Amino acid sequence: MPVDVLTGLQWGDEGKGKIVDILSESVDAVARFSGGGNAGHTVSVGPDLSFVLHHLPTGLLRENVEGLIGSGCVIDPGALLGEMGELAGAGLPVDRGRLLISAGAHLVHPVYRVVEKWDEARRGDSSIGTTARGIGPCYAEKYWRRGIRLEDAAFEQGLRHKAREQLEYHLDAMGGSAPSGSDLSALRDATGRFVEASLALLDYAGDVSLRIADILESGGSVLAEGAQGALLDPDHGTYPYVTGGSCTAGGACSGLGIGPRSIGQVVGVMKAYSTRVGAGPFPTELPNETGDRIRERGGEYGATTGRPRRCGWLDGVLARYAVRLNGCSWVALTLLDVLSGFEKLRVCNRYELDPEASAGIFERGARMALHRPFYRELDGWEEEIRGMTSWDALPRKARDYVLYLEELIGVPIGLVSTGPGRSEIIRRDV
Ligand code: GDP
Ligand code: IMO
Ligand code: MG
Repeated sequence: MPVDVLTGLQWGDEGKGKIVDILSESVDAVARFSGGGNAGHTVSVGPDLSFVLHHLPTGLLRENVEGLIGSGCVIDPGALLGEMGELAGAGLPVDRGRLLISAGAHLVHPVYRVVEKWDEARRGDSSIGTTARGIGPCYAEKYWRRGIRLEDAAFEQGLRHKAREQLEYHLDAMGGSAPSGSDLSALRDATGRFVEASLALLDYAGDVSLRIADILESGGSVLAEGAQGALLDPDHGTYPYVTGGSCTAGGACSGLGIGPRSIGQVVGVMKAYSTRVGAGPFPTELPNETGDRIRERGGEYGATTGRPRRCGWLDGVLARYAVRLNGCSWVALTLLDVLSGFEKLRVCNRYELDPEASAGIFERGARMALHRPFYRELDGWEEEIRGMTSWDALPRKARDYVLYLEELIGVPIGLVSTGPGRSEIIRRDV
């Protein structure tokens, strides 16, 4: 059996958690290959029960599914233990046999959050609007080859030494802006807790690449769960307004230690409109009443930070780009129910490029704002469609909208989500 990969096609928060939850009904393991505490994947498992998973693979919400966290991920040990505690409290204990974390995964030292806050402040008007979870500094340290990996916890004294070294290094780098007094002693205490939490996680450390090979060898199946979205990818997104981890399907290979020939289907998740949290270009943004209406209908507030998400029309040009980058086999369309009641809907289907741009739409991430989006206007539909499970029962205008998106992106839309709940889904033959 191959590894199927699921990724976000926009700026994150496409509803990946909900779709992974549905697909994980029939897999043996779900593996996160990128990101960390910046992700917030929501699964609504019952009328009054939903979970938001940050580090943990969403598949763990299904009792028989094993969770894997690859070396492409960055882990805040205390936060991860907290998440595990939450699941255990809800009757879903994450025992050693159910979770394996790559020994090569990097750990988020508490000083990274401080450095990130300092750096964001220094950037002023050009700040990225990060999730403030220490993600950027952690990936930076990884590539500076100074980072702390879970495997370091196997040598307690070495870990303590590295944790202290990281702290001192960054305090030095921040110079006069470094925390002092009670802030500094709080940071030293947090560093102590970081070491204890890392030691506690050691029980879960192992070789994720090998585990996946074993599962496949014995005929089992694995779903790789992406975090963030293609347009936040450091290589292919709207740089510099991006995250640190790899967000496209290719990242599953490096982040899990599997070869490209192990990949089966690639599923892209796309919401029926666009949202973005944080700064950066967003050509189809609606900073007006229509955008507010989408935000309120869709409950578009960050699952990790609670920040209001910027809302806009679906960008078909960027969606087609993301489908190509990921090599999608098919797409799951989410949040279609949010668009009920709009008289007209718009979808960007081409750009008039800024004449000075020499390398197309992504010449420089921030420069995208200079290109002009053009729209196709489609009729909306009045009826509420929340919870619908049948394609034929959808209003014709809603079906036309989906079929138009399918034509634009060039791959089939195999799932249409009509609500946050597990059963609120339309399955189509693709
Ligand atoms: P992720 O990061 O891609 O997993 O997405 P988030 O969990 O951050 O945000 C998606 C939000 O939309 C969550 O609150 C989900 O419960 C919700 N959601 C997912 N699919 C649907 C849908 O089809 N309709 C509605 N109304 N909400 C949905
Ligand atoms: P999920 O997996 C939406 C955004 C931040 C910021 C930029 C960099 O839930 O879809 P970072 O803290 O990663 O350095 O922030 O990336 N961002 C997300 N936006 N969903 C996410 O994850 C995100 N993870 C990071 O808002 O603009
Ligand atoms: Mg999210």
